[in-house]
Amino acid sequence: MPLFAPNRYKGKLIVVEGIDGSGKSTQISLLSQWLRSQGVAVAFSEWNSSPLVRETTRRGKKKEMFTPTTFSLIHATDFADRTERYILPLLKSGAIVCADRYAYTAFARDVARGVGRRWVRNLYSFAIRPSLCFYFRVSLDVAIGRILGGRNAIKYYEAGMDLKLSRDVQESFRIFQGRILDEYDAMAEEMGFHVIDATQSIEAQQQMMREIVMQELGESLKSGVLRSQGETHAAATAVTVLR
Ligand SMILES: Nc1ncnc2c1ncn2[C@@H]1O[C@H](COP(=O)(O)OP(=O)(O)O)[C@@H](O)[C@H]1O
Ligand SMILES: [Mg+2]
Repeated sequence: MPLFAPNRYKGKLIVVEGIDGSGKSTQISLLSQWLRSQGVAVAFSEWNSSPLVRETTRRGKKKEMFTPTTFSLIHATDFADRTERYILPLLKSGAIVCADRYAYTAFARDVARGVGRRWVRNLYSFAIRPSLCFYFRVSLDVAIGRILGGRNAIKYYEAGMDLKLSRDVQESFRIFQGRILDEYDAMAEEMGFHVIDATQSIEAQQQMMREIVMQELGESLKSGVLRSQGETHAAATAVTVLR
């Protein structure tokens, strides 16, 4: 079974991956602003954001009802919904879709929660192959420091508390995120990630991302993808309707 479905459309899909606190959201947000400033039509898609499964996820999490397999299936449902209603139509329209986490998040996290590697990869075989995937590599200590700098409570599932790794939330979080980090590192080469040293300054990382985007997608950016004059409006309207 092939890992992903080919992207047969004009649009491009740019993905960021890495553990919590690695700086993904910061970088993809800067990159999309820059792409917009180049006159390209850009859209955004976040992990676990589909309205279809929001309520189920909320209720299931509250009552701690999820097993690793049901949790994995819920995320895949969210992903399928976003793919069909949002990502695919935007790629068809020629937009650049920036995704904050993609199927690799499930490959890393669900496996860290005990789900089979082959099973979860098979589950996502309908996903469109990204044009580019950036992996923000950072040590556990740096990531935890950044997360705890921003807020003080780590959530139950975020810490993998359901896996009973430790009764202490911070300790559980460390073990769980460590497993996820190992999975990402093991995937990096196989999946062709562009590995970014996420301990560098925000500016240095952003510069590197832009260079890679220009190298890999530069020609398409000039003429292949949807330009924003007038047309962005159409894409933006389509997105609003589709959401
Ligand atoms: N290169 C960096 N150096 C220091 N702090 C950073 C860097 N990149 C991001 N941060 C900070 O770390 C925190 C987590 O960043 P964020 O982009 O939300 O990470 P993620 O989306 O991967 O969880 C934020 O407070 C952010 O401002
Ligand atoms: Mg984020």
